[in-house]
Amino acid sequence: MESFLIKGGVPLHGEVTISGSKNAALPIMAATLLTDEPCVIRHVPDLSDTRFMAQILQSLGATVKFKNGTLNVRANKIRGYADYDLVRKMRGSICIMGPLLGRLCKARVSLPGGCIIGARPINLHLKGFASLGAKIEIEGGYVDATAKKLAGSAVFLGGRAGSTVLGTANVMMAATLADGVTVIESAACEPEVVDLANFLNTMGAKISGAGGPTITITGVGRLHGAKYEVIPDRIETATFAIAAAATNGEIMIHGARADHLRAVLDKLNEAGVKIENRGGNLAVRRNGKLKSADVTTLPHPGFPTDVQAQLMALLALAPGISIITERIFESRFMHVSELARLGADIEIEGPSAIVKGGRPLSGAPVMASDLRASAALVIAGLAAKGTTQVNRIYHLDRGYENMDAKLRKLGARIQRVEENS
Ligand code: EPU
Repeated sequence: MESFLIKGGVPLHGEVTISGSKNAALPIMAATLLTDEPCVIRHVPDLSDTRFMAQILQSLGATVKFKNGTLNVRANKIRGYADYDLVRKMRGSICIMGPLLGRLCKARVSLPGGCIIGARPINLHLKGFASLGAKIEIEGGYVDATAKKLAGSAVFLGGRAGSTVLGTANVMMAATLADGVTVIESAACEPEVVDLANFLNTMGAKISGAGGPTITITGVGRLHGAKYEVIPDRIETATFAIAAAATNGEIMIHGARADHLRAVLDKLNEAGVKIENRGGNLAVRRNGKLKSADVTTLPHPGFPTDVQAQLMALLALAPGISIITERIFESRFMHVSELARLGADIEIEGPSAIVKGGRPLSGAPVMASDLRASAALVIAGLAAKGTTQVNRIYHLDRGYENMDAKLRKLGARIQRVEENS
């Protein structure tokens, strides 16, 4: 297994270009299953998760070529069955279910199970499919969804923690080929849902309202092939901005979308980070000393759960008390005990982490537990004095394209090594 060895204390300087969004690319890749015609998707980040999704599409019968960020898919003839070994490795693969059901009127997909950040049920996805007329059966760890023909209907997708991103994506994809009109209420408003809707519309779907809580899908007889470019990754953008602030550096971020990051930019501003939009690029530097700030994660346009861990690493450096409340995933605080190994003073009280910031961090070996926790540990390691070894960075490789190379270009002393070297 590989680790990062980071010699911290070097302010980041220079320019970085943001890759395509992982969480937009995955459902867009799945959506190519809705047509038998070729699709070309550009700006797909080269990550273990996207490579894995490409394998899933192949295993379902599609021809896939993925090179230099461009994905060519042709799902001429496909089967509607995805087994446990495929789905368990990546929870996001559940988003193949909507397209399979939409195109074939049947899908048999292994239940994905939970992951380290929470239980991650799919009850809302299934409720949505059932509203479209699918019969749902769960047996032997598999969900079987079948229908003679899907029929549009009103679907309410609000759940315990609010909207569901992949649930909205799944129901929207299935509804594109249903008879009649589907209205999704309490839909997820994330930019990745908008990107998927834009791609589906490019394929000939009739979707309006994406980006707001009510999405209307008028079913069409068939979808055709399309060319499309994925939006930049807003979580990668936030991660680099926070890394620059944590090291007291100054960087220019190219290819990012500030309009996808309002809550993050607002919170960083409150924490003493100055971010300016200069001709579509984001200039990031500190605005004096870091300040404590309170934050609660919420569905979009609220503060994203996928930036909670990285912000915590930054607030550990800000003098004063910050309260970070996680409202989306029940156990997304695995990074707290690892940040403590670097000297951070953080206590967990129910869904909140109380960060007593301002203590100097010093390097230590730490263990990555999930994708965004890994990013938080890298940020803390870059800011800490001495050497930090972040182990199990395969978590990080799931969602950040060339993170070590991009950081090195910004002057960071970071190396990828074998864990025991
Ligand atoms: N939920 C339900 N029932 C469902 C579905 C979700 O109760 O049927 C709950 C979840 O347990 C959670 C909340 O609803 O409490 C929101 O989960 P959501 O369904 O929105 O998450 P997701 O679609 O499975 C995507 C991203 C995650 C990101 C979340 C929230 C992808 C591939 N994954 O997951 O990304 O954290 O939305 O924004 O798009 C990451 O990139 O690190 C990551 C975990």
